[in-house]
Amino acid sequence: MKHLLKLLDLSQDEIIGLLDLADQLKYEKKHGIAHPHLQGKSVGLIFQKSSTRTRVSFETGIYQLGGQPMFLSSRDLQIGRGEPVQDTARVLSRYLDGIMIRTFDQKEVDDLAEYGSIPVINGLTDQYHPCQVLADLMTIRERYGVLEGLKLCYIGDGDNMANSLIVGGLKTGMKVSVATPEGYEPLEEVMEFAKENPDFTFCNDPAKALKDADVVITDTWASMGMEDEKEKRIRDFAGYTLDDELLSNAKDSAMVLHCLPAYRGQEITEKVFEDHADEIFEEAENRLHAQKAVMVELMKDKAETL
Ligand code: CP
Ligand code: NVA
Repeated sequence: MKHLLKLLDLSQDEIIGLLDLADQLKYEKKHGIAHPHLQGKSVGLIFQKSSTRTRVSFETGIYQLGGQPMFLSSRDLQIGRGEPVQDTARVLSRYLDGIMIRTFDQKEVDDLAEYGSIPVINGLTDQYHPCQVLADLMTIRERYGVLEGLKLCYIGDGDNMANSLIVGGLKTGMKVSVATPEGYEPLEEVMEFAKENPDFTFCNDPAKALKDADVVITDTWASMGMEDEKEKRIRDFAGYTLDDELLSNAKDSAMVLHCLPAYRGQEITEKVFEDHADEIFEEAENRLHAQKAVMVELMKDKAETL
C-alpha cells in the first residue's frame, strides 16, 4: 500500500490487515502501551470542507503515534487561491511525511498522490470516504467477530458512504444490499465493480433491501456541497427515514451505524438513533484507531517491525 485513495485499490488481505492493526492499536491505547510509530514525522491535514471527527481523530491519532499533525485549511493555503494541486503536492512532499486531504473531487486526491512523493490519505471526497468505512468494518467485526457472510444494508443517498461501503463490504466477504431513490444511485464505477458479485443487490425499495440485515447504515440525504438541494432531497427521499417500522425488516439483533453528523427526522429518527447510540459512537471512536492503522501502514519506517 502506497496511499489510501479509495478502497477499490485495496485487496481483501490489505483491508483485513488494516483492521487487525487497528484492533492492536486500540488495545495498546486502552492499556497504556506506547506505540510511537510516527516519531519524528509530520503529517499535513488539508481540509477544503468542514469536519469534526476527521480533523480531531487525525490530529489526536498522529500525536498518539509520536508524530506532528499540521492542520492546513484551504482558506489559508495557496491552493485556495488557485495554486495547482500538482505544485502543492511537489512542495509538501519536501516538508512532510504524509498528507491527509478532505476535498470535493476525487481527482484532486489522485493528483496529489500522482505528483507528490509521500503517502496520501483520502479523508473524504464527493465520491469516497474510505477512512470512515474502515472504521465501520472494524466496528462491525468487533460486534460479530467476523465480517464474512453478514448482510450489510445501506439505505439513502448513493453518496461517498454508499460507494465506499459497497466496495468495503463486498471485498471483505459481506452480502451488501443497497436501496436509493431513483436518480440517486451509487457511482457508475462502483456499480460496475459490484454488479457481477452475487452478494450484491440494488433496488429502490428500502424495506426490501433491509430484509434480514445484520447491519443497517444510512447517511445524510444532502452531503457537504449539496446544501442547495436539501429541500428537494427531503421530498425525493420520502419513505427512506430509518424508523422502527422500516428497521423491523432487519434482524431483531441488527446493529445500526451512521458516520455522523446525523439529521434526526430526516434519514433517521431520534428513537432509532438513540437506541443504537452505543454502536454509533463506538463507530466514531474507531475512526481514531482505523486511521492510526492506515498511517502506520503507510508511513512506518521500512525497517520497523511491529
Ligand atoms: N464522519 C465524518 O467524517 O465526520 P466529520 O465530517 O465530522 O469529519
Ligand atoms: N456523505 C456525507 C458524509 C459526512 C461525513 C458528506 O459527504 O457530507
